[in-house]
Amino acid sequence: MIDRAVTLSQFVFQQEREHPEASGEFTSVLLDIALAAKMINKAVIRAGLVDVLGATGSMNVQGEKVQKLDVFAHDTIMKVLGSTGQLAVVASEEDEGIVPMPDGAPVGKYVVNFDPLDGSSNIDANVNIGTIFSILPRISRKGHGTVEDCLQAGRRQLCAGYILYGTTTMLVYTTGDGVHGFTYEPSIGEFLLSHPSIRTPSRGRIYSVNEGNYAKWSEGMKRYVDWLKMEDKVTARPYSGRYVGSLVADFHRNLLYGGIYLYPGDAKNPNGKLRLLYEGAPLAFIAEQAGGAASDGTKRIMDLAPSSLHQRTPLYLGSPEDVRECEMFLAGQHEAVGVERRGC
Ligand code: AHG
Ligand code: MN
Ligand code: MN
Repeated sequence: MIDRAVTLSQFVFQQEREHPEASGEFTSVLLDIALAAKMINKAVIRAGLVDVLGATGSMNVQGEKVQKLDVFAHDTIMKVLGSTGQLAVVASEEDEGIVPMPDGAPVGKYVVNFDPLDGSSNIDANVNIGTIFSILPRISRKGHGTVEDCLQAGRRQLCAGYILYGTTTMLVYTTGDGVHGFTYEPSIGEFLLSHPSIRTPSRGRIYSVNEGNYAKWSEGMKRYVDWLKMEDKVTARPYSGRYVGSLVADFHRNLLYGGIYLYPGDAKNPNGKLRLLYEGAPLAFIAEQAGGAASDGTKRIMDLAPSSLHQRTPLYLGSPEDVRECEMFLAGQHEAVGVERRGC
């Protein structure tokens, strides 16, 4: 029970006072993203009214064109971040190339990579969707930022977070000093601290994967998921299957309850579907800061050096013991897992 309401900005400034060496001005970038999130939230909760007020592509009552929600989210974040003077360059899942700061706008020393709207296939069904972001220091020295500024390994991140739009909207972030969650209170327009210092269980009982792809998986992946579904009291199996289809929602649930999220590469897409810069790296930073783990099957996601903006990566994410066991299955070491867990 928290005995007083702490807003996101109060919390961020307090952290800044306590760790002046770690924070710096990028905390204002975080608050700018929170502002954009409030604007996106407003549009998300009205999304169901699009059919009433005007379909996508048509004009709304103000005579403005009704945008697709993912494009709206991208534009909103760009509008807010473009004018702050803190950023050198931005990369978005919705844009093929890097997005320079607008002409004449001041240029700063930070970089933001973001997925403006994650889970977009769920928009029309009123299922949770989200925004994921990653803040990095620029590496280029002056002028407009470059693509190299965006293509940095996850371990270089200063801050990563997500906003989950839903029955209650939440913002969860890390700056490398634990993971903190805030719940949006629309009546006062503030994110209030509701989940300080989130820790994820070392082992969960949930697995989250699109099992419709089973036929395309590797033998190791098939064997792991088959194993999770087998009955065995000693190792607390079977696990429960939970899959929303919005990474941010699946990740958030597993972060709190424990479990593993899997999006493997397969015969058709060897690197899977999820993007390293906008999804893998930021969620890996958060997972690790909460005591979890994130792997591409053999390597730590945080150590992967991206070579292109929309690079995809297999992703195994969640409770550390589950991720480690999954890696062993993928490496064909499934027999060793049984020995370790049963001690025989
Ligand atoms: P996005 O909406 O940003 O394109 O991301 C969709 C991603 C992710 O949110 C989700 O976990 C995954 O796609 C679901 O993919 P499948 O439909 O293949 O399961
Ligand atoms: Mn996404
Ligand atoms: Mn998206």
